[in-house]
Amino acid sequence: MKSIATLCLTLLAFAIGSHAQDYNQSASFYLNLLSSDPYLNGTGLVPCHTGAAIENLCSAAILNQTQALYGPFQFNTSTEAATANTPNSTAGQMGVLTYLLRGSNFNESEALRMDFGYTSNMANPFFMPGNEELMVAFDSNDQLNLPVYTDTGYAPLYRWYLCNNSYYYKYRSIAWVIGSGAPDDASCCPVGIYRTWV
Ligand SMILES: *[C@@H]1O[C@H](CO)[C@@H](O)[C@H](O)[C@H]1NC(C)=O
Ligand SMILES: *[C@@H]1O[C@H](CO)[C@@H](O)[C@H](O)[C@H]1NC(C)=O
Ligand SMILES: *[C@@H]1O[C@H](CO)[C@@H](O)[C@H](O)[C@H]1NC(C)=O
Ligand SMILES: *[C@@H]1O[C@H](CO)[C@@H](O)[C@H](O)[C@H]1NC(C)=O
Ligand SMILES: *[C@@H]1O[C@H](CO)[C@@H](O)[C@H](O)[C@H]1NC(C)=O
Ligand SMILES: *[C@@H]1O[C@H](CO)[C@@H](O)[C@H](O)[C@H]1NC(C)=O
Ligand SMILES: *[C@@H]1O[C@H](CO)[C@@H](O)[C@H](O)[C@H]1NC(C)=O
Repeated sequence: MKSIATLCLTLLAFAIGSHAQDYNQSASFYLNLLSSDPYLNGTGLVPCHTGAAIENLCSAAILNQTQALYGPFQFNTSTEAATANTPNSTAGQMGVLTYLLRGSNFNESEALRMDFGYTSNMANPFFMPGNEELMVAFDSNDQLNLPVYTDTGYAPLYRWYLCNNSYYYKYRSIAWVIGSGAPDDASCCPVGIYRTWV
């Protein structure tokens, strides 16, 4: 246990301050679910601890967390990225979803990234220190999407699901489905994710 903790602290120390790019950071916001399930609709998402300095996005409805714990999250944008990746008018400006991990003697802004494998169409979004990051956007209805390049510019994709069979522990967490098919994990139901300003 101790060696794992030491390794993680080393990785964290390496990650802090190593961001090469400069960003403008938005005000803080909460992330909420759009769902056909009235129990879930409008409820919040919370960063849930699933490893050393690693957080997934989990349903706060299940965890019974209060609004104060629903993140908050921020959106980091740069004019450089905006010029290089012009969205179509509906996708919204591209940027990085961030969460401020607060330790006892450090703060670390973590970017959302995505983990996926070759044997399933389920991808797992998570926050972790480091330079790897996923470009996302908020459309004109404040809905979180992944922009995909098309002939007419970047268009928004919305393939978020809430799954019962989460990777770690007992949480119901957010997943992304790769491609336009049904999720391989039958415990997942489609959801939308939208932001509300703190
Ligand atoms: C979910 O909530 C949204 C926003 O409050 C509302 O517009 C929508 O009708 C609700 N959907 C269902 C299925 O209740
Ligand atoms: C969450 O709260 C509801 C209602 O207060 C309760 O029935 C349920 O058991 C709680 N769930 C957890 C995981 O604590
Ligand atoms: C931040 O926003 C200001 C004002 O819009 C802009 O001049 C500046 O280039 C932006 N910085 C980055 C890193 O994109
Ligand atoms: C972390 O950030 C919070 C505010 O977001 C601040 O109150 C706190 O002092 C910071 N901690 C450190 C170690 O910088
Ligand atoms: C987001 O932008 C803020 C302000 O520039 C910066 O302090 C923070 O490190 C950035 N977060 C990430 C994950 O790049
Ligand atoms: C942007 O992309 C969406 C989704 O593909 C599409 O419905 C919409 O018409 C596009 N808008 C423009 C201006 O091309
Ligand atoms: C997921 O779990 C919830 C809460 O226990 C349950 O109501 C729902 O039916 C489950 N969904 C699936 C697809 O198994």
